[in-house]
Amino acid sequence: MIGTTNDTGVCPRLIEVALPIREISAESVRDKNIHHAHISHLHIWWARRPLPASRAVVFASLVPDPDHPQCPADFRRAVGRLLKTHVPTALKHYRRGREIHRDEDPYRPYEGIPDTLRHRLLMFIAKWSPESLAFDAGKRETPAPPKQLLDDRSLVKWEVSDPGSPQGLAVLRIARELVGVAHSGDVPTVLDPFAGGGAIPLEAGRLGCQAIGNDYNPVAHLILRATCEFPQEYGKPGKRKVLVEEFGRSRVERDVLVPNVLVHDIEKWANWVLERVRQRIKHLYPAGKDGRPTLAYLWARTTPCSNPSCQGQIPLLRSLVVSSRGTKVALTLNVDKQNTEISFGIAKGKAIKKTRGTKRVRGPAVCPYCDQPTSEAEIRAAGRAGHMSEQMVCVVVEDTAGKDFRPVEDDDLAAFREASALGVERPQELILPEVNSDDAMEGVSNSTGIRVHLYGMKTWGSLFNQRQLVAMQTFVASLHQALQAMEKAVPDTGYRLALGLYLGLWLDRIASFAANVCRWAPASRIIKTPFGGQAVPMIWDYAEVNPLADSSGTASTQLRYMLKVVEHERVANGSNIAVPTVLLGNASSLPLGSGIANCVVTDPPYDDAIAYGDLSDFFYVWLKRSVGPLFPEAFATPLTPKADEATSLKHRHDGCEERARTHYRRLLTASFGEALRLVEEPQLVIVMFAHQSTDAWTALISALFEAGLSPDATWPIATEMPKTALALGTASLETSVTVACRPRIVGSAASFKLVRSEIVEVVGRSLKRFWSYGFRGADLIVACYGPAVGVFGKYERVEKADGTVVGIPELLDVAKEAARDAIAGEFRGDNLSTVYYVWANLYGAAEQAWDDARLVVQIGGDQDHAMEVARGHGMFVVDGSKCACRS
Ligand SMILES: C[S@@+](CC[C@H](N)C(=O)[O-])C[C@H]1O[C@@H](n2cnc3c(N)ncnc32)[C@H](O)[C@@H]1O
Repeated sequence: MIGTTNDTGVCPRLIEVALPIREISAESVRDKNIHHAHISHLHIWWARRPLPASRAVVFASLVPDPDHPQCPADFRRAVGRLLKTHVPTALKHYRRGREIHRDEDPYRPYEGIPDTLRHRLLMFIAKWSPESLAFDAGKRETPAPPKQLLDDRSLVKWEVSDPGSPQGLAVLRIARELVGVAHSGDVPTVLDPFAGGGAIPLEAGRLGCQAIGNDYNPVAHLILRATCEFPQEYGKPGKRKVLVEEFGRSRVERDVLVPNVLVHDIEKWANWVLERVRQRIKHLYPAGKDGRPTLAYLWARTTPCSNPSCQGQIPLLRSLVVSSRGTKVALTLNVDKQNTEISFGIAKGKAIKKTRGTKRVRGPAVCPYCDQPTSEAEIRAAGRAGHMSEQMVCVVVEDTAGKDFRPVEDDDLAAFREASALGVERPQELILPEVNSDDAMEGVSNSTGIRVHLYGMKTWGSLFNQRQLVAMQTFVASLHQALQAMEKAVPDTGYRLALGLYLGLWLDRIASFAANVCRWAPASRIIKTPFGGQAVPMIWDYAEVNPLADSSGTASTQLRYMLKVVEHERVANGSNIAVPTVLLGNASSLPLGSGIANCVVTDPPYDDAIAYGDLSDFFYVWLKRSVGPLFPEAFATPLTPKADEATSLKHRHDGCEERARTHYRRLLTASFGEALRLVEEPQLVIVMFAHQSTDAWTALISALFEAGLSPDATWPIATEMPKTALALGTASLETSVTVACRPRIVGSAASFKLVRSEIVEVVGRSLKRFWSYGFRGADLIVACYGPAVGVFGKYERVEKADGTVVGIPELLDVAKEAARDAIAGEFRGDNLSTVYYVWANLYGAAEQAWDDARLVVQIGGDQDHAMEVARGHGMFVVDGSKCACRS
C-alpha cells in the first residue's frame, strides 16, 4: 500500500512511503491467538502491541525506500541481491505437510504490480500465501486457515521468530543485513520510551538493532528485563549436572550439555520451590472420599437477603451450570427454608432441572428462601459493611476422562478451616489508594475498570481467601529459601538475579490464577484470571485452584507456559545479537545522551484507557514480597509510582477530568520532546496509538505539535477482523494507528476555507483506500485522522475569516464529516437519514459497541445529544453496551 511521499529531496524511510497493512493486519489478528511461547504468556501486561505489527513497523522505520531517487546505491544493490537475484536456497520452497513446493522467486510482487525494489521489500515484509491468493482469485473455495494466510517467508510471520526454524533464520538474516546496510554497517539503536510488555524492543533486537526499552512502571520494567534482556543474555547451551539413567545402575549425576541453561535452571529452581510448597501445604487440598484428586473448588459469595423477615445468606451464582462441554453438569440447590440453610448437589444431563442462577449480571439477587430480590446497591452496602461471606458449592476433580465435579465433603471444609486457622499475613496495601484511603476525597469516582472496592474489598490482600493466602505466602517463603540456596549454588550475581526474577514472575502468574476474583468458565472448564480485560471486575462465583495439581491455572502449568517463552526468545544459534538495554524511568526525562537513537518507535498510553499503575499493583505487592530485595530500585515505593504516569485518569486528580487531561498532555508533550532530543538526524519518531475518541486524538496531536513533531504518514493496523482477510465483511475492526513523524516545519497561517477543502480532498482519497483494505466502522474514521493532521499540521495555525483560531478538535471534526460525506457519496438527505445510510454502509445489521455507535452518530451533527436524538427516532435497538440499527 502506497502512502504519501516525502518531497524534501531526502530519501524517506520505507514507513513514510508504503507498508503492506492488510497483510500485517492479518498476521496481527493471528498473533492474538498464538498461545504457544508468545511473550504474553510470560506475564500479563495491558495493551500489548502485536508482534507482527511491531516487527514490521521497526523494520520499515529503519530501511530507506529503495525506489526513491536518493536511496543509497548499496541499499538498492542489497535489496536486489537478497530479494531477487540471490535469494537464499532455504527460502526457495515452502512446505505444506509433507509436500515441498518449489518457489524460486518468493519475493516477486503480486501479479499486475510492477517489479520494483520497493515492491519486493514490501513482499518481504508480508505477502499473501498462494492459498490466500487462490481464494481471492476465486480459484479456491475455502479461505486459507489463519496460519496460512501469509506466505511462510514473510518477515512478520510468527514462525519466523522460531529460533529452530531454518527459514525463519534465513529471513531474519536478510532483515538484519538490510538494516545493517541501511546504516553503513553500524548497529542502529531503536528506543522505545513507553515499552510496556516489550513488543517493540524485542522485535528491534530480533532485527539486529541495539534496542533500548524504558517504562515508568516497575512491574513493566521487570517484565521487560525478563522478555528482552535475560533470554538473550543467558539463553545459551551449556553444561549442567543432570541425573541420568545408566544401564545397570540407578540414576547417576553426569555433566550434560543442555540446549538452554536458563530454561534448565529456571525449571530446576521452580521445581525446588514447588517441592517445598508441596511438603508444607499438600494436606490442605485433600482428595475426595472416592480418592479422585482435587483440581479446584467453586465458591459463591453470599449476601444477606434484604427482606427483614428473612435475612438468610443468599449464595450469589450467575448460573448453576458448571460444565457445558460434553454432558452438561449443573449444581442443584437443597434449600432448607426453615433454617435458611442451603447445600449443593450435582446433576448431569437430563437430570438437570434448573440452570438459572440466583444473580443476574446487572440485576438483583433472588433469595432462595423467600424469593425476594436484593438489589445490587444492597449487595454493595452489605459488602462494605463486612456482611458478605462465601460458601463452597462444589469441587472440581481429576477423572480418567479429564475433569469431573463432586459435592462438597466434610474433609474439604475441614481443610479450609485448617488453612484459615493458620492466620497468615494478608497484604494490606490499598487498591486504588486515591479512592480508598481514609483521607480520600469524598465522592471521587474511579476511572478504571477496578470494581471490587465497591463491595468492600479495598486491599490487595482481600482478593485472596484464607487458603489462597496460605498458598501464596508459602510460595513466597519457599522462594526466599531458594534464593538463599542459590547464593552458594549460583555464583554469578547477575545470573542469580535473572533466575530470581523468573521465579518472582512465576509466583505472579500463580497469584493471578489464585485470587478470589478468578472465574470458572463452564464452556472450556478452565479457570480464568480476572485480567481478561483492563479491569478487576467483581466476581460472584469464583474458582479456587489447587495450585499443586497439574491442570489449568496450577503452578506447574504456569511454569510450562513461562519456560516456552524463555526458550523461544533464546539467542538464535550463531547470531551475535546485541542484548537490549532496559531502563526504569519517566519517558519525559531519560538518562541518555542526545542523539543516541537512530529511531524512536513507541506506543504511549491512550488517554484514560488503561490504569497501568492501579492494575499492576496486584502484581507489585507480590513481587515486592518475593523478589523485592533483589531489585531495590524497582520497589522503592509502597505501591507502583503513579504521579508521573502519562495517563488521563481523573481519580488521580480529585475527580477533575480537566486536570487529568492537562496532566496527560503535559507528560505526552514532554516525552515527545525528549524523544526528539534522543533521536539523531534525520529525526524519525514513530508513534503507535490505539484510541478512538476525538479527545484522545486531540491530546496526541497537540502533544506532537507542541513537541515540534508532525505526522508524515499514517498506517492503520487492525488486530481484530473477520476470518477472511481478503474478503473483509462489515464487522468492526480494532485498529491501532501508526503515525510516522518528522520535525515539524510550519508555514504561515492558513485560512480555514483552504484547509477544509484540502482535508476533504485528502480524507476522501484516504477513506477509499482504507475502505478497500477492509477497515470499517469507527476504525475507518479514526484511520482518516492521520492524513487530515498531515494537512493542517503544515500550518502554524488555521484561522477563520474573522481571525479566530480553529482548534484541533474542530479540525478533526472536519475530518469526521469528510469521512461521513465520502461514505455517503451521492446520497443527500437530512442528518438522520445520512447517519442511517452511513451506518448501513459501515456496519450493516451487525451489533456494535455503544462507543463506536456514538462516534458514527456524532458525524450526523448535534454532538452532545446525537445518540439521544437517534434513539428518540427509534433508530437503534439497544442492549446494554451494544446497539444495532433497526432494520
Ligand atoms: C500502550 S503501553 C505500551 C505497550 C507496549 N507497546 C507493549 O507492546 O506491551 C504504554 C506504557 O507506557 C507506560 N508509561 C506510562 N507513563 C509513562 C511515563 N511517564 N514514562 C514511561 N512509561 C510510561 C505504561 O506503564 C505502559 O506500559
